[in-house]
Amino acid sequence: MTAHSLVPRIRLAALPTPVEALPRLSAQLNGPRLLVKRDDLTGLAFGGNKTRKLEFVLAEAQANGARTLITVGAAQSNHCRQTAALAARAGLDCILVLSGKPEEHSTGNLLLDELFGAEIVWTSRSEREATLQKTFETAWENGRRPYLIPLGASNALGSLAYEAAFQELMAQSVQADWIVVASSSGGTQAGLALGARRANWPGRVLGISIDEPAADLQRIVAGLATAAADRLGEKLVMSPAEILVNADYLGEGYGILGAAEREAIQWFARYEGLLLDPVYTGRAAAGMIGLIRQEFFKPGETVLFWHTGGTPALFASRYADDLR
Ligand SMILES: Cc1ncc(COP(=O)(O)O)c(C=O)c1O
Repeated sequence: MTAHSLVPRIRLAALPTPVEALPRLSAQLNGPRLLVKRDDLTGLAFGGNKTRKLEFVLAEAQANGARTLITVGAAQSNHCRQTAALAARAGLDCILVLSGKPEEHSTGNLLLDELFGAEIVWTSRSEREATLQKTFETAWENGRRPYLIPLGASNALGSLAYEAAFQELMAQSVQADWIVVASSSGGTQAGLALGARRANWPGRVLGISIDEPAADLQRIVAGLATAAADRLGEKLVMSPAEILVNADYLGEGYGILGAAEREAIQWFARYEGLLLDPVYTGRAAAGMIGLIRQEFFKPGETVLFWHTGGTPALFASRYADDLR
């Protein structure tokens, strides 16, 4: 019995996700061998990394007798879209606390949130946490049995899902020297880093920070990885120094599509027929391309880009002009 089988999980994702080669992109960059792990194909409303995390989160929510899932994010949050789909599928109510403003005609993830029947509570970025707490308390007082999923489902349970994902990659017998992944609330990288450590993997997991300074993200990821290990019953401590983060590609800030992200999205599309998203994978791929140009990776190395989804945001009206 593996440590994972002790943690309740509800199967939602289409696993294992494929690993594919990116030969045309690699040739165009005159770079290392490139692979992609297609977690944009996990299923559950256009897929993405949250499907894996929500398998563990839903199991706990149901064990707690939850009737309402409450979570939080930006207006175009992929995590919120997938949580809304999950709630619909599981027969639960869903309340999303979103920072930003309603659109006159909802597009992208927001349109999908509405299709799934989620209730939306709008707030500002600075008041988001307070609004979330208040929303939870009100739902509780109204007898709706709420279950709170944190930002990005990045807690010990969500991170654990990516420890399992790392094991899945190992079972696919993929030879890679690097995993490059978008890192924001940290759970995805935490799980991968924990998986690599538990497997004594000789390669390295590099998080491209989407919106945090490197030191902050290293601390967050290390804390999540340690908490996930604890859920597996292992007294294993991961230190921030063990977590590799590059924060050179923060661009103009969270959710702002700049020239580097646009180029990465266009190159993946034109050379490989693959779609990235404007906020996370576009930025992470821009980081990977930038590092290839700086010859950060050694000749002969293999770099696996872990695609974490997010593609519905391509259809958000705010990005329409910037993507051309
Ligand atoms: C498409 C996509 N990629 C990557 C991430 C980052 O994952 P994490 O929050 O686990 O760091 C997110 C998180 O919101 C996302 O939506």
